[in-house]
Amino acid sequence: MKRRQLLKVEGLMLRFGGLQVLNDLSLSVREGQIVGLIGPNGAGKTSCFNCLTGIYQPQGGRVFFDGRDVSHLPTHRRARLGMARTWQNLGVIDALTVTENVMLAQHQRAGYSALAGMLGLAGTWHRERELRRDAAEIIEYFGLEAVADERTGELPYGVRKTCDMAMALASDPKMLLLDEPASGLSPEEALGLADTLRELRDRLKLTILMIEHHVPLVAEVCDYVYVLNFGELLTEGEPAAIQRHPEVIAAYLGGTAEPTEPPEWPLQPEGAPHGTA
Ligand SMILES: Nc1ncnc2c1ncn2[C@@H]1O[C@H](COP(=O)(O)OP(=O)(O)OP(=O)(O)O)[C@@H](O)[C@H]1O
Ligand SMILES: [Mg+2]
Repeated sequence: MKRRQLLKVEGLMLRFGGLQVLNDLSLSVREGQIVGLIGPNGAGKTSCFNCLTGIYQPQGGRVFFDGRDVSHLPTHRRARLGMARTWQNLGVIDALTVTENVMLAQHQRAGYSALAGMLGLAGTWHRERELRRDAAEIIEYFGLEAVADERTGELPYGVRKTCDMAMALASDPKMLLLDEPASGLSPEEALGLADTLRELRDRLKLTILMIEHHVPLVAEVCDYVYVLNFGELLTEGEPAAIQRHPEVIAAYLGGTAEPTEPPEWPLQPEGAPHGTA
């Protein structure tokens, strides 16, 4: 039996002035899947995430999440329904500790503002204690205990990325939208990420949509892949077929879409400044 669609996107149209960033983009993610969204720099991947999470309001198209039309809901309402994301440029606040960052992210579901919690206003104290305990569990899950009280700005990049992921988890989501989780990681860290993603899916029953340039990671963990080029869907399918697709190869390397011998992976988009966009 096919699992139900947790996320469904129909005909997204996004323009900035004369620039058509997304053109009739449709995709879907079934519950329990890890789905990749790949494509060259500037293809519109992050813009797509911004439309899904309500940061950008597209000129056309609809977004359905968990059976609801969320197209016109603001970001925080979509987050409450179970969408969480990480950021290409990291969502952590450098001046806060790991624990503080995770607790800040938890306030999506706390039922009161982070400020009320920090000031210890009436009714927040018990809940705050619960949140602190949950934060400690999330921090332990990601192996961040040793740095829990350190300011994130002082931590190595890979650790800050892990903290960003912990923050996404802190809102107790159904779905994670990850924007280049492997960028800036060492090859060993990227490999470890594959295990983490599978565990998030299998143990925590999360559904994942992931933007990623690191094609070996995509090939290893994704059940299905969408390829975006100039705001349009170039192709979609299982990772093995995508890697051999002549148009995908052409889109990444430039030039023609003549079928050739598959090149060595990973293909790096020309001049890709990973994680710096
Ligand atoms: N707020 C904005 N205003 C104007 N143009 C924008 C805005 N956001 C995105 N764009 C443009 O939309 C296009 C797609 O950008 P986007 O960041 O979505 O690409 P991407 O696929 O995530 O690229 P990368 O792999 O480099 O992260 C780019 O030409 C970008 O300049
Ligand atoms: Mg991007």
